[in-house]
Amino acid sequence: MDKKVCVVGLGYIGLPTAALLANRSYEVRGVDVVQSTVDIINRGEIHIVEPELDTFVRAAVNSGKLKADIKPAQADVFIIAVPTPFHEGYVPNIDYVISATKSIAPYVQEGNIVILESTSPVGTTDKVAEVLASHGIDTRKVHVAHCPERVLPGHIMRELVENDRIVGGTTSEATEVTVAFYQTFVEGEVLATDAKTAEMAKLTENSFRDTNIAFANELSILCDKFDIDVWELIKLANRHPRVNILQPGAGVGGHCIAVDPWFIVHAGGEDAKIIRTAREVNTYKTEWAIEKIKNAALAFENENGRKAKIACMGLAFKPDIDDLRESPALYITRRLIADGLEVLAIEPNISEHKDFDVVNYNEAVEKADVIVFLVAHKEFKDLKIFGKETIDFCGITV
Ligand SMILES: NC(=O)c1ccc[n+]([C@@H]2O[C@H](COP(=O)([O-])OP(=O)(O)OC[C@H]3O[C@@H](n4cnc5c(N)ncnc54)[C@H](O)[C@@H]3O)[C@@H](O)[C@H]2O)c1
Repeated sequence: MDKKVCVVGLGYIGLPTAALLANRSYEVRGVDVVQSTVDIINRGEIHIVEPELDTFVRAAVNSGKLKADIKPAQADVFIIAVPTPFHEGYVPNIDYVISATKSIAPYVQEGNIVILESTSPVGTTDKVAEVLASHGIDTRKVHVAHCPERVLPGHIMRELVENDRIVGGTTSEATEVTVAFYQTFVEGEVLATDAKTAEMAKLTENSFRDTNIAFANELSILCDKFDIDVWELIKLANRHPRVNILQPGAGVGGHCIAVDPWFIVHAGGEDAKIIRTAREVNTYKTEWAIEKIKNAALAFENENGRKAKIACMGLAFKPDIDDLRESPALYITRRLIADGLEVLAIEPNISEHKDFDVVNYNEAVEKADVIVFLVAHKEFKDLKIFGKETIDFCGITV
């Protein structure tokens, strides 16, 4: 009989994973607490934007291998892929992980594998095992492990298969059986370690990115002060054979890079100096951008005797996706609106937003007095703009 997998949390990570496994002949129960998500998936449709995902989900549902529900079911392998945001004050919030673990506890049996895929503060996988133990499960006979996900939105279906994976069990046997599970569908290398190192590895990867982007963002602020084109500067400096500076932007967004470093800072305190500073620099870049836009709006008003219409080009946290989580572009747009500026919000990857109208980008460019590029979406690349003030935070006009 085919092996059964229960995937808890059907978002950007859980749904692609569930659909991939179902297409690899696992019998998959996908679980989500949101009924509409469950209904959409059971119709063979998807509730998020991700290339190729629709094809995988349709095939998985049509073959009967993927069924979504709001309740878990008995399985051989349980995968937890629920959100891990933070509370006020950047305190890690693992409430979703704990509640997902409690929800599977009645179905977990001896010999099962329980995998935490959510990006988690160090020690969370041990907490998953503790929650299972508190439900009377003998955790010496259940394999609990962490396997962080490191896919790139927009390329998830390919990277789920091709990326190397890190697996860290709460016991060496848990590591071994979990590695064997991933080897059934991952073509990249599956690297074995312990649970805490696996947790820290994922946080380290994102903190490394955040720190390097902070360097680029700080350069962009300095270059503005010195009247130097930062994009040209970075291009030139990167011609050094051992220099590879990343690109600046309007800040850092998404629920990974902008969130995960705080998990280290929270636990590491005073010893997490660079990681904390990088976060602060990236957050400051967003505030700095707001000031720049406001100054441009004020200059326009002084010159023309009327309020400037500001086109905020892009709301997503990076190019060519619809994901607005922790997005500096969205934050900037909201702040400008809240502070009374006349704003046209543009995001080609979404059709509406609950807080404001989303305007077509061609129309916005025509109507606006100040055009602010916040995200380098492909739609903006060939726009022809004449005689209007343009502020480019994402390097799309260079
Ligand atoms: N999206 C990415 O690119 C990415 C990449 C690497 C790692 N991660 C990590 O993966 C984890 C999941 O991220 P995501 O992007 O898939 O989040 P998401 O918000 O897209 O999806 C999470 C889903 O879990 C559901 N959920 C919440 N609590 C639940 C519960 N108790 N039981 C069942 N379902 C529940 C939500 O309704 C939602 O549909 C996070 O820890 C994230 O940091 C995400």
